[in-house]
Amino acid sequence: RKRVRTHTLQQMKDRGEKWTMLTAYDQYTAATFDEAGVEVLLVGDSASNNVYGNESSLPVTVDELIPLVRAVSRSAKHSLVLADLPFGSYQGSPEQAFHTAVRFMKEAGAHAVKLEGGLAMVPQVKLLTDAGIPVCAHIGFTPQAEHNLGGYRVQGRGAGAARLLEEAKALEAAGAFAVVMEMVPAPAAAEVTKALHIPTVGIGAGVDCDAQVLVWQDMLGLNTGKAPRFVKRYADLHTVMLNAAREYVDDVKGGAFPSAEHSFAE
Ligand code: KIV
Ligand code: NA
Repeated sequence: RKRVRTHTLQQMKDRGEKWTMLTAYDQYTAATFDEAGVEVLLVGDSASNNVYGNESSLPVTVDELIPLVRAVSRSAKHSLVLADLPFGSYQGSPEQAFHTAVRFMKEAGAHAVKLEGGLAMVPQVKLLTDAGIPVCAHIGFTPQAEHNLGGYRVQGRGAGAARLLEEAKALEAAGAFAVVMEMVPAPAAAEVTKALHIPTVGIGAGVDCDAQVLVWQDMLGLNTGKAPRFVKRYADLHTVMLNAAREYVDDVKGGAFPSAEHSFAE
């Protein structure tokens, strides 16, 4: 297999082939999902919640995300490594976005960056793309703007569908290589997917998007909290890890570990 590039993702859309994105924040998740054939590894600002234990994506910083992106880009042999630009690191101006994106590319080995927002982000997408930095846009529900959007809510309902389409088209025209749509009605997402030349990536956006993305701790059941409707749990890692850790505790306390097999004779 060859390294996935943005043009690979475009060719897959052109051929009507679906592709996949999963979050990854460290060596073993990156290597495992790469081996599984996941086309894009997203070092999401969801690391704020899923790595650093914050309650939202707002607190995580560029300096906290860079080492995670570095670990993933070192470990991914085939997947394209996509770095999320965190809250406050790109909204101020296209120049701020450029400075932040360059750090992710130079210091951490990212192949592309993702940023949230619609029409207001067109200048950012344009400058980065012109500078040689592939940009994935993110519209619909955008967690960094939760205080503006009134919490976690489906976007693009009713009249919002036309707005979603307008934003997607503007971001495509600005040079985005893909558009993530989060928590939008499936018919609205299908309409955007049909109207765009570039691939769409859905999370809670129905089956007609060109690609799908999930957060790995949700998808593999490490996160046991109430999952949003769009999460499908493919494994129950929480139970696997909990039982193993309990067994270890019992073994040590009962003297069953380490046995002779796990010890050095002399
Ligand atoms: O940060 C993240 O994990 C994301 C995906 C849910 C799209 O932005
Ligand atoms: Na994100």
